[in-house]
Amino acid sequence: MRKEVGPISNLIPESVIEEVKARNELVSVVEQYVHLDRKSGSNYFGLCPFHGEKTPSFSVSPPKQIYYCFGCHKGGDVIHFIMDIEKCSYPQAIRLLAERAGVAIPEPDDEAWRQRHEKQKALQNICLEAARQFYRNLMAAAGQPARQYIQRRALASSVCRKFGLGYALEEWNGLLRHLNQLGFTDEELLLQSGLFRRGKSGGLYDLFRHRLMFPIFDAMGRIIAFGGRVLDDSQPKYINSPETPLYTKGRHLYALNVAKSSKKDQMVIVEGYMDAIALHQAGVDNAVASLGTALTENQAQLLRKYTEQVVIAYDADAAGQAATLRSLETLSQRGLKVTVLQVPDAKDPDEFIRLHGPERFHALIDKSLPLLDYKLAVARRNSISQGAVDPLAYQDEACQILAREENAIVRELYATRLAEEIHASTESVLQEIERRLGASSGESARPAARTHLDRPGTDQELPESTSRESLSREELYVLTLLAAEPSLAEEARITAEDFSPGPVRTLAESALPRARDGTLDLSVLIELCADLTVRDYPLHDLVARVSMRLDELFGQNLRQGAAEQLWRLRKQRLRQQLETLQRQYQEQTDEAGRSRLKQDILALTRRLTELKQKPDWQS
Ligand code: CTP
Ligand code: MN
Repeated sequence: MRKEVGPISNLIPESVIEEVKARNELVSVVEQYVHLDRKSGSNYFGLCPFHGEKTPSFSVSPPKQIYYCFGCHKGGDVIHFIMDIEKCSYPQAIRLLAERAGVAIPEPDDEAWRQRHEKQKALQNICLEAARQFYRNLMAAAGQPARQYIQRRALASSVCRKFGLGYALEEWNGLLRHLNQLGFTDEELLLQSGLFRRGKSGGLYDLFRHRLMFPIFDAMGRIIAFGGRVLDDSQPKYINSPETPLYTKGRHLYALNVAKSSKKDQMVIVEGYMDAIALHQAGVDNAVASLGTALTENQAQLLRKYTEQVVIAYDADAAGQAATLRSLETLSQRGLKVTVLQVPDAKDPDEFIRLHGPERFHALIDKSLPLLDYKLAVARRNSISQGAVDPLAYQDEACQILAREENAIVRELYATRLAEEIHASTESVLQEIERRLGASSGESARPAARTHLDRPGTDQELPESTSRESLSREELYVLTLLAAEPSLAEEARITAEDFSPGPVRTLAESALPRARDGTLDLSVLIELCADLTVRDYPLHDLVARVSMRLDELFGQNLRQGAAEQLWRLRKQRLRQQLETLQRQYQEQTDEAGRSRLKQDILALTRRLTELKQKPDWQS
């Protein structure tokens, strides 16, 4: 069953998911976002909505109900399409499509789930009503001081509306009374919204008073928390909602609900509410704020869903720079490309824009430094003593940084530059880097090189051999052919053990039974991929790619193709097993153990010789 896709979709019955798919024909759904015109064979082509291109490489197959982009390699079924284009989760995509087609999704009859769900709904309503009230306050007579403050900060009314800014009255229970009037009287629930505190006398009072209010939205645009800023210089400058059932700190990014629709292929991260808003006002519509200092793992993961390229634009002070370094690590560990924007002559991006205007800020984005350049710039700054760079201190830190770079060519390029800066020869700088490389190689200072699977270009680039977390071209072919021709499962006696352990075997385990009971097709196979990945690469993209190319790869004779691929696959698995046994044999010192292993090796060798002759089944 659908174990892999998270708690909510578990509760959406399989039959409903199938109905949702059946009632949302892929071409008609895609056409709401993409102009499909060129037709080639049975496939439609259009300009890919997921990457910029001038000639159409985004294809949709009506008979297969699968899309695939030959340019950026995204692919899947109608549900993946919605997940990708609406940037939403699997269950959210199903709900969206269900709504579109008028399919009712039954609420699960799990009591605990139902209660939690209802509480979340109620808390969402409280937050929404609170935001509405804050907005009304801002517009009312009592909102005058907040409006003046907004004017002083030069915020346009259009961005204030876009970000739902408001004002919390200078009263102890202005919001409480309002929500009570709307019928929200359950004190426990109100407390859980994070908007109130319980006073000594036992009653509730408003947490936010006489503050400019910033609603915090989740990526889907629902209000989940608030931040409130004082209108003068008093302390604390900001008060934020505590953690609630809706809001966990460090899990969200402020302004992401707006930034996710940006057409730019990168995201700009800033520290504060005001920076994010100022950037959006300046036309930087891809800005988000981490709302604290360094970016968390969770936030990096969230960003990764929307972009591959991140510009960090934190405050210029020491805290901001320290947070930059930590965020750099977090982001690059997640596989994101990071550059660093340094704000000169101002304390933060917001102030920079107010002083120098949007154009100058756009230029700063373009000039943002790649990771290594930034680290070297910091090293250089750190080694300034008495107004000048101390070359000894600088080379020490700089060589340490370069020794951590995995690409030898990149190391050399930077070494040349460093050598010029400190008036040394490139050779000696490289030598010093190599020396440190040798010293640290044992502790794996450098991350493992990524495989070509990360970005498959042609099928030639699919891996030939299997390793524990990998999958081979053959495995992918066999599974896809099976979905196109399910009768093969029985005939060929394919079992999950034919596949290497890991994600592919997991997929085989759910796909094989469905092939046998006749309910497997390409689009079901793609569904079964759920969120399985091979080294961060979604399995459904790979399956979609092979699905789209089946005819080209195997012509009319899918059965023959399957026979051959399965044959290769088995040979490959046997060879792997053989290698493992041989290794064990060499390491085994115990006589009995050795002779047992020898038997196994002989048996395997025999099976391999048999296999070598020809496919053991054919049409
Ligand atoms: N912050 C906070 N509590 C504080 C200070 C800061 O929660 N007492 C958080 C806020 O999310 C704030 C961010 O840290 O937006 C960055 O702080 P800062 O740079 O001081 O805030 P700005 O957004 O730049 O606010 P302003 O320009 O109005 O001073
Ligand atoms: Mn600021």
